[in-house]
Amino acid sequence: MGATLKKNILLGVTGGIAAYKSAELIRLLVRAGAEVRVVMTPSAREFVQPMTYQALSGHRVYTEIFDADADSAMDHIELARWADLVVIAPASANFIAKLRDGYADNLLLTLCLASKSTVAIAPAMNQQMYANDATQENIRALGARGVKVWGPAEGDQACGDVGLGRMLEPEGLSELICQFFSPGKLLGKQVLISAGPTREAIDPVRYISNRSSGKMGYALAQAASEAGADVTLVSGPVEISPPQSVRRVSVTSAIEMRDAVIERAPGADIFIACAAVSDYRVEKPAAHKIKKDGASMQLELVPTPDIVSEVTQLGNKPFTLGFAAETEDVEQHAREKLTRKNLDMIAANQVGVRPSGFESDTNEILVIWPDGQQLLALGEKRVIAIQLIDLLADRYLANERK
Ligand code: PMT
Repeated sequence: MGATLKKNILLGVTGGIAAYKSAELIRLLVRAGAEVRVVMTPSAREFVQPMTYQALSGHRVYTEIFDADADSAMDHIELARWADLVVIAPASANFIAKLRDGYADNLLLTLCLASKSTVAIAPAMNQQMYANDATQENIRALGARGVKVWGPAEGDQACGDVGLGRMLEPEGLSELICQFFSPGKLLGKQVLISAGPTREAIDPVRYISNRSSGKMGYALAQAASEAGADVTLVSGPVEISPPQSVRRVSVTSAIEMRDAVIERAPGADIFIACAAVSDYRVEKPAAHKIKKDGASMQLELVPTPDIVSEVTQLGNKPFTLGFAAETEDVEQHAREKLTRKNLDMIAANQVGVRPSGFESDTNEILVIWPDGQQLLALGEKRVIAIQLIDLLADRYLANERK
């Protein structure tokens, strides 16, 4: 990232152990060219001393609404006007609840009320607190009000729990902030994305499927939408929700996914095939639950349609990015799929080994196109998605100019 972010960022730090990561975020933003002013809530000071942020931002840190030193710096209304973006990282459950209810009993809450600029929150809390209906409802309400919600990520927590509630890493947050200010490269483009697994019925209660969680495809949908695209997401059964700006079409089987994609592909500028489509289906699923009789049994499987290959055979085919999920010889297999499926680009990831591929929150991708390639090093899927959409947009636009 070059020093190109000529913006004023007001960084709000609330009480949480992730406050130590905010120091690195300041360093990254300053390095990117931003002016950063830091405001801490009283509880944030229990975790990190203001001096740390002061040294990194090069400015005094604001902590009190009624400040005897206010003459020597901006007052809270000036600060609110100064900010091009207000980022609260980490945003605790308590702060999120108060922000939702319009409280102004500390400097940071007052600034959020007084600022006309966009507010972004990076939630960070114990996974149970995050999952609590009250927190979920508060986050939904803030999102509906235009507050950007960045994260949280899943993983080990300081309290010993494992789950969703970790603050996004500073690199990811700084990437999101840069992207917030960059004009959308895909403005007005129609982007069709397939995501998640498919389920192929064996009988009314059993099916063949795979471990795809949809995280990669949904992150791509969000990144494409943030890059200005009009996004349709054809999704197999997953546990996650798409961003509000994305149109979701829910499907179950490979044939349903094929029909939904083929219906929409002619109107799309770009198609991203991120779904883990079952390669085989049971030819004749049983009409009733199959009874166990102790004997071994055989299932007759037939191939499913190759959706992405059908799209690239269309007369007016969209610019197509396929995925390759490989357990070995990743690059070689991906190059073979790029040619065989007539793709414009392919994103190859190694699967079967965490921390990349299926289910995991992180991924590493080798992107290949006919005359080039680029490695997107291991990072959160949210960040990998932004990098991949950026690369895809460049290739797509270069292709259009030909
Ligand atoms: O969902 P997550 O848990 O986040 O995991 C992400 C992921 C690992 C599923 C994703 O990154 C990924 O690799 N998706 C493609 C999975 C896959 O099916 O790869 P493949 O190498 O088997 O297929 C190659 C390409 O053909 C893919 O673009 C696939 O969507 C497409 N395909 C495959 C079979 C089929 N019948 N129709 C297809 O269109």
